[in-house]
Amino acid sequence: MKERKDTKRLEKYLVECGIGTRREIKKYVHEGKIKLNYKIILDESIHIREEIDIITFNDIKLTKKKLKYYMLNKISGYITAMKDEDGKKTVKDLLPSSLDTKGIFPVGRLDKDTEGLLIFTNDGDLSKLILSPENDCEKIYYVELDREIKESDIERLENNIKIDNHVCKSAKVHKISSKSINLTITEGKFHQVKKMIKAIDNKVNYLKRIKINNLALGDLKLGEIREIKRQDIL
Ligand code: URA
Repeated sequence: MKERKDTKRLEKYLVECGIGTRREIKKYVHEGKIKLNYKIILDESIHIREEIDIITFNDIKLTKKKLKYYMLNKISGYITAMKDEDGKKTVKDLLPSSLDTKGIFPVGRLDKDTEGLLIFTNDGDLSKLILSPENDCEKIYYVELDREIKESDIERLENNIKIDNHVCKSAKVHKISSKSINLTITEGKFHQVKKMIKAIDNKVNYLKRIKINNLALGDLKLGEIREIKRQDIL
């Protein structure tokens, strides 16, 4: 059935209200927690008229949350958190004070000494899409190495290298110079890039994330933030 302009799939509307991920929403619907005009709805694929219909979750009327998306070019020296008990500098300190940060959080984390692309949003669904390893969302890192990289190292990095007790998913290496590469990975284990590089007996001297899925850091200057759209990322 063709979607009429004034209607929307219930599932899509519920995502936009920010009550959960698509999977969680399906569960809520099947548990009978969602009502359309006071009647339980068990099919998330039906179409609703968002201007007219009354949709409730656990009998509380839903209103659409304005979803916001920002990209930051993170500076080294800031931890990825919105606050720190010990008073360390956080990425929140890099956001303009005029920005309403209520409900906003960074998607994933970059180490204190890592620079580059960090997304902020209040869209939990998008965050899960980016971070869940089963979604294979590509993240590209520019890596400067301590020692020259060999062809055999590249092969090892690309073919399920082991870090701690974890076998990494396949990665891609684009060699830029003898001591610098772009590394594409689809997971986000703690210190993943540094550990992968350590596993080939090398060391990261500089690390910058340059792309997340379709969103490239581009010309965004260090420390700068820009408002973006969901479609820029997915
Ligand atoms: N991998 C790392 O080792 N550090 C980061 O900050 C990001 C990915």
